[in-house]
Amino acid sequence: MDYRELVRKALEIRERAYAPYSNFKVGAAVIMEDGKIYSGCNIENASYGATNCAERTAIFNAVTEGNRKLKAIAIVGDTTTYTYPCGICRQVISEFCDEDTDIILVKNEKEYLTKKIDDILPGAFTKKDLIK
Ligand code: THU
Repeated sequence: MDYRELVRKALEIRERAYAPYSNFKVGAAVIMEDGKIYSGCNIENASYGATNCAERTAIFNAVTEGNRKLKAIAIVGDTTTYTYPCGICRQVISEFCDEDTDIILVKNEKEYLTKKIDDILPGAFTKKDLIK
């Protein structure tokens, strides 16, 4: 699958980041099973813990629109290397992905790595674990 458009969207939406505290802008874009794309940036807060990461903003935008099946997510930080999702975002990605979902770590428009959820969150706690 060609993820160039998704990668461009993540790079573009990074500019919307509200990151006056860390000055570290992040953009994320998700493509859903039906082909729709949603995007999000990190949104910080004076009460630091209220910050929302770009990945969660993008996924919450999709879910809010009734779209829950992630085909791929592209993530780009504000660095010359790859930005991996934080632990909370890995857990949120795992809620809406399956084992084939591509997690694309973007360095720039031409260089990116593709991971699966089991690579970055092995042994994830999921809804299956809630069955008694
Ligand atoms: N951040 C993200 O948006 N996604 C990540 O995967 C890593 C961290 C944000 C949170 C905070 O606004 C800033 O990057 C620095 O941690």
